[in-house]
Amino acid sequence: MATKIYIVYYSTWGHVATLAEEIKKGAESVPGVEVTIWLVPETLPEDVLGKMHAAPWREDHSVITARQLAEADGILFGFPTRFGMMAAQMKAFFDSTGGLWQEQSLAGKPAGVFFTTGTQGGGQETTALTAVTQLTHHGMLFVPVGYTHGAGMFAMDEVKGGSPYGAGTFAGADGSRVPSDAELALAAHQGKYFAGIAKKFKAV
Ligand SMILES: Cc1cc2nc3c(=O)[nH]c(=O)nc-3n(C[C@H](O)[C@H](O)[C@H](O)COP(=O)(O)O)c2cc1C
Repeated sequence: MATKIYIVYYSTWGHVATLAEEIKKGAESVPGVEVTIWLVPETLPEDVLGKMHAAPWREDHSVITARQLAEADGILFGFPTRFGMMAAQMKAFFDSTGGLWQEQSLAGKPAGVFFTTGTQGGGQETTALTAVTQLTHHGMLFVPVGYTHGAGMFAMDEVKGGSPYGAGTFAGADGSRVPSDAELALAAHQGKYFAGIAKKFKAV
């Protein structure tokens, strides 16, 4: 039976969505792995999203319900930062998982995170680290990428998001920056690495 990986994300302007697609490609490169990208529900009204110039809703990605998380063998959660922590849309989704928490339905499942910030120093690591509380209460196993992507992770010659906590990108203060090749490469690597770990856990 295939190892089911769910990539569950929220994105206002599309940067996290781009990382999600790249992570999917990496995860799908592992034989016997089936990957689905899901969105969490939006919590802001249309008129507010309009004023924020939010990207169009990704109709090609279905909205997930809390209960569906239990179907996955491993889950990667992606979110933009808001004041150094996950966006409220993702937090609201986690807040809807009380039933799963009560049953500990997600306990023992591998989980990873990826993220975006506007700026360097804007909270990539705090966003990842504070997300670990959600995983911990569910008994999920946090799978960081560590430095498994190799020498490029140590390079200082260009600005790049992402870290041992997971893939990441900088949107720029005005949102105009797009993920760089190095950031996309780390995202694909995270997908592949995570899928390999989830596959091993499923086999146990
Ligand atoms: C209310 C609000 C708070 C934000 N807080 C931060 C922050 O603490 N640090 C930062 O670097 N960027 C911050 N940003 C910028 C977003 O994180 C950035 O636009 C986002 O990561 C882009 O991802 P997306 O295109 O997937 O929505 C904030 C944006 C908003 C609207």
